Amino acid sequence: MKYFDLTSQEIIANPYPTYAKMRAAGPVVRGKVPFSKDVYIVSRYKDVVSGLKNPKILNKMKWSTGVKNERINQMLKPKMMQAIEQSMLAQDGDEHRRLRRLVHLAFTPKQVSKLASNIDTVVEQRLSNLNDGDSIDLLSDYSSKLSITTIGDLINVPQRDRQRFEYETHNFLRERQSSMLFLLDQVRSGLKLFRIIRRIIRKRSQNLGDDFVSKLILAESEDGKLSREEVEAMLFVILLGGYQTTSHLIASGFYTLFQHPEQLNLLKEDLSLIDSTVEEILRYTSSVGHGAIRKIVEDTDIDGVTVKKDNQILFLLSAANHDETVFDSPGIFDIQRENNKHIAFGGGPHFCLGAALAKLEAKTSIKKLFEQFPKTELSPDIDHNDWAYTLASRSLRSVPVILRR
Ligand code: HEM
Repeated sequence: MKYFDLTSQEIIANPYPTYAKMRAAGPVVRGKVPFSKDVYIVSRYKDVVSGLKNPKILNKMKWSTGVKNERINQMLKPKMMQAIEQSMLAQDGDEHRRLRRLVHLAFTPKQVSKLASNIDTVVEQRLSNLNDGDSIDLLSDYSSKLSITTIGDLINVPQRDRQRFEYETHNFLRERQSSMLFLLDQVRSGLKLFRIIRRIIRKRSQNLGDDFVSKLILAESEDGKLSREEVEAMLFVILLGGYQTTSHLIASGFYTLFQHPEQLNLLKEDLSLIDSTVEEILRYTSSVGHGAIRKIVEDTDIDGVTVKKDNQILFLLSAANHDETVFDSPGIFDIQRENNKHIAFGGGPHFCLGAALAKLEAKTSIKKLFEQFPKTELSPDIDHNDWAYTLASRSLRSVPVILRR
């Protein structure tokens, strides 16, 4: 089986030629991505789609601090990580279905559409404070602000906690380093976030309303209700799943549009193309770096190749989204692409819960910026090779632009 090391900066900056080699090499290869040991990697679209539904390949994962000694690892692993391991993200089968059903009762299209006007307001306020000629970083000054505010609104973070909430979330998800100091600092941020979340749940429990957290507390199906710990874990996972993924998606979307001026002009001439533009950004940019990593619990077959139990396997969504057997000229960024069946939000039982919300944020922030500042351009200071690869996603570290009306 061929081996691919995907950890170099060069490949992170431009993974597509390597992905093409992986797809050509066979249905499964061995390899390594940042933050992982050697894993099996699946990169062809049809194998990724079916693999995500394979009952012999499960999510049940244990989080590691990165420290090799298991006893120290356990000691360092705080309660919040144990909570993540019991959350929907790391469950399978009936237990996953139970949690997912309950969260669905709360995370309805109505809840998402309630956030739509907040998203409009946040974007408009941000833009109204900006002027022709201003230099801003579309990641830190624009998309991050929107995505953290949206999650804050969804889970009712009180205004007085917002700054801390934003800081600690950012700190918790920042690029991983191997030093002990970094780990301790990350754990500290996670604990502070957990404290904020606990306070929110306590407050909502005493005064239930029509909001998402109240609905989560109240959600009940034939399987019963969520325990207090399960509500806490759910909010934490939604925060982790929804902040950086979305801000990176939006920043990468802007960058890709600037890199394809003819497509950007098409969009500016007809902003009703924003829906298909965001779908193409999702397909083309592969802002979720890793894709979906799983554990093989029984030997199983992937298009004629046996993969062995107890190994980890990575379904490389971003490589599948560039599979030439599914997408015509996958390397072309085409905002009018038809039949765009990308799998940027995964597939199978763990399909992204926030997909509708993330798309809404991307559409609003991109459309409104070009409505107000149609001649915005990338700053000459941009470093095209400075890509970050965090636990949640892949993005340029900054997308500096000069706003122009
Ligand atoms: C508001 C924004 C978002 C929220 C609240 C959110 C939340 C979630 C949650 C809770 C899950 C776990 C579902 C489960 O295990 O059943 C999930 C899965 C996933 N999300 Fe999102 N997400 C958001 C944005 C995004 C974005 C922008 C992307 C990618 C561009 C993304 C990609 C994924 C993927 C690939 C999975 C599946 C992971 C797997 O199968 O292991 N999400 N999301």
